[in-house]
Amino acid sequence: MKKTFAIMIAAACLGLGSQAAIAGPDGAAIFKKKCAMCHAIDRKKTGTAVNAMNKDAAVLKDVVTNGRDGTMMKSFSNKLNAEEIDAVVAYLVANQ
Ligand code: HEC
Repeated sequence: MKKTFAIMIAAACLGLGSQAAIAGPDGAAIFKKKCAMCHAIDRKKTGTAVNAMNKDAAVLKDVVTNGRDGTMMKSFSNKLNAEEIDAVVAYLVANQ
């Protein structure tokens, strides 16, 4: 039983690893972990609803990277790497 469980965990890790290698960071997972406490797709929370956000991906990327002064929207440049920021911006664009 224990052994089966260990094999299942190992298989799950391998699965995740190879998926990350092929697809890059998972924007949806990053959003859920780092953004969803303030942002929802279709309603305003502390932050703007995703479907009400600016439609220009370059603007979205700038705000996520640098934050917006004087608001609760802080810079993520020290929390996410460039690939992760691109992935989460792609997720925003796909859900607008
Ligand atoms: C602590 C709450 C909080 C968290 C966490 C947060 N945001 Fe925000 N975000 C805000 C607020 C508040 C605004 C609105 C700022 C303003 O008044 O212009 C905002 C604005 C934005 C905007 C600009 C939208 C526009 O059209 O002006 C983007 C893009 C954005 N957030 C993306 C993200 C992403 C991606 C994450 C996760 C990596 C995230 N935010 C995490 C609070 C948050």
